[in-house]
Amino acid sequence: MNILLLGSGGREHALAWKIAQSPRLTKLYIAPGNAGTALVGENVALKETDFDGIAAFAREHAIDMLVVGPEVPLVEGIADYFKARPELSGIRVIGPSKAGAQLEGSKDFAKAFMMRHCIPTAAYKTFNGTMLAEAEAFLETLQPPYVLKADGLCAGKGVLIVPNLKNAKEQLREMLGGKFGTASAQVVIEEFLNGIECSVFALTDGKHYQILPEAKDYKRIGEYDTGLNTGGMGSVSPVPFATKEWMQKVEDQIVRPTVEGLAEEGLDYKGFIFFGLINCDGQPKVIEYNCRMGDPETETVMPRLKTDIVELFEAVANGTLDQCAVEQDERAAVCVMLVSGGYPLEYKKGFPIEGTDGLADTIVFHAGTAVKDGQLVTNGGRVIALTSYGADKAEALAKSMEAAQKVNFTDKYYRRDIGKDL
Ligand code: AMP
Ligand code: GLY
Repeated sequence: MNILLLGSGGREHALAWKIAQSPRLTKLYIAPGNAGTALVGENVALKETDFDGIAAFAREHAIDMLVVGPEVPLVEGIADYFKARPELSGIRVIGPSKAGAQLEGSKDFAKAFMMRHCIPTAAYKTFNGTMLAEAEAFLETLQPPYVLKADGLCAGKGVLIVPNLKNAKEQLREMLGGKFGTASAQVVIEEFLNGIECSVFALTDGKHYQILPEAKDYKRIGEYDTGLNTGGMGSVSPVPFATKEWMQKVEDQIVRPTVEGLAEEGLDYKGFIFFGLINCDGQPKVIEYNCRMGDPETETVMPRLKTDIVELFEAVANGTLDQCAVEQDERAAVCVMLVSGGYPLEYKKGFPIEGTDGLADTIVFHAGTAVKDGQLVTNGGRVIALTSYGADKAEALAKSMEAAQKVNFTDKYYRRDIGKDL
C-alpha cells in the first residue's frame, strides 16, 4: 500500500523508518519531512495543515493510508476532512477526529473527561477571564508550587509551574489577559504532583487497544534536569519503574477507561494515545493526554517495537486491533538529542553536519535537518537524535555517547546523563 506520513521532526523520521521496514508498504511519502525522512521515502513539499493540498496529492498518488504525526492537523480536524469527502473515503486516516483530539487540544476537556471516567489525575478547576477572583481564591487553597495550564495548544509552552502565590496570581492574570492568545482564554489550575514521569503509548481502533513500549523523556536543557524546558533532549525505553504490576495499574485504571470513555461518549478515535503519566508513590496519575506519539520518545519506542507497524495501522483502520499482538525488543534503547547551541533560546541554522554515516551501533534519526547545495545542514533547535540499543540502558547510553562525539556541527550540544536518574 501507499502511505503518506505528515510531519517533519525526529518523531516522523522514526515513524518513517519503522513504516519503511514493512513488507506491506509499496511507497512512502512524507510531507513535508526532513533530510532524514528522504532517506526512507519521498518528501513532498506540503504543509501539514494544507488539507486541500494533502487531499489532492493523496488522490493523485493513490494513497491508501494517511498517518498523522503532529497534533495540529488533528486538532484542526484532518480526519474529519477526509471522512466528509466521498472521493477521499477510501483513504484510511491514522489519527483521531477533531472531537477525539480534544484530549490534547483542550486541557479543560481532558480534565473533565478524566473526572467523568474516574481516571486518576491531579485535582483541578478551570477559569476564564470573568472569574479572576474565584481563580485567585482557588490558588489560595492550594500548596506551592502552583500549576497553571493554558487550555488550548501552545506548542508545549502553555504550562507554568510557579513557586509562590504572588507570582502565580500575576501569571494567572497574564494568561487570562491573552499571554498565549486564545489558547489561554481559559486556564486550568491544578494540584502539583510529585513523582517521576513516564510516557505510555497506545494504539486504538476506537474499541480495542494495544499498548506500545513505554519511554521516559528528558525535557530540561541541562544535565540532571536543570535549566529551561526544551522539546526533549533524549529518551529511554524501557522505564525501570514501569514494572509489570505498575503497567497493569496503568492499563486497568487509565488506558482501558480512556478507550472505553471515548467509545461511550461517541468520540471517533483511531490512532495513537499518549498518556503523560507521573508515578506518585506507586500510583500512576495522568499529567496530560496527547493525540499523537511523543518526541523524542518515538525515537526509542519504534526501535523497540518488533511488530510490523503497518499491520497495526491496518488493524486500527479495520477495527481489529484485538487480533494483533505487540512484540517488544528485550533490549534497552537510549536516544540522545544533538541540539544547536543556544537552544531552546536563540540559535543559528545552516551549519554543515558531518559524521552521520557509518555509525554501526546507532540509528541516526534526523529532527531539524535540511540539505542545502548537496550538504546536510542544521535546520532547527533539535537537530539529530541518536538511538542505540544495549543489553541495558548504560550500554545503550555509552553507544549513543560515542556516536554523539562522531556527529559534528558548529555549536553542537547534548546531555550525557540520559537515563542515569532511573
Ligand atoms: P504538560 O504540557 O501538561 O505535559 O505539562 C508540561 C510539564 O509540566 C509536564 O511534563 C510535567 O513535568 C509538568 N506538570 C504538568 N502538570 C503537573 C502537575 N500537576 N504536577 C507536577 N508537574 C506537572
Ligand atoms: N516528549 C513530549 C511530547 O512529545 O510532548
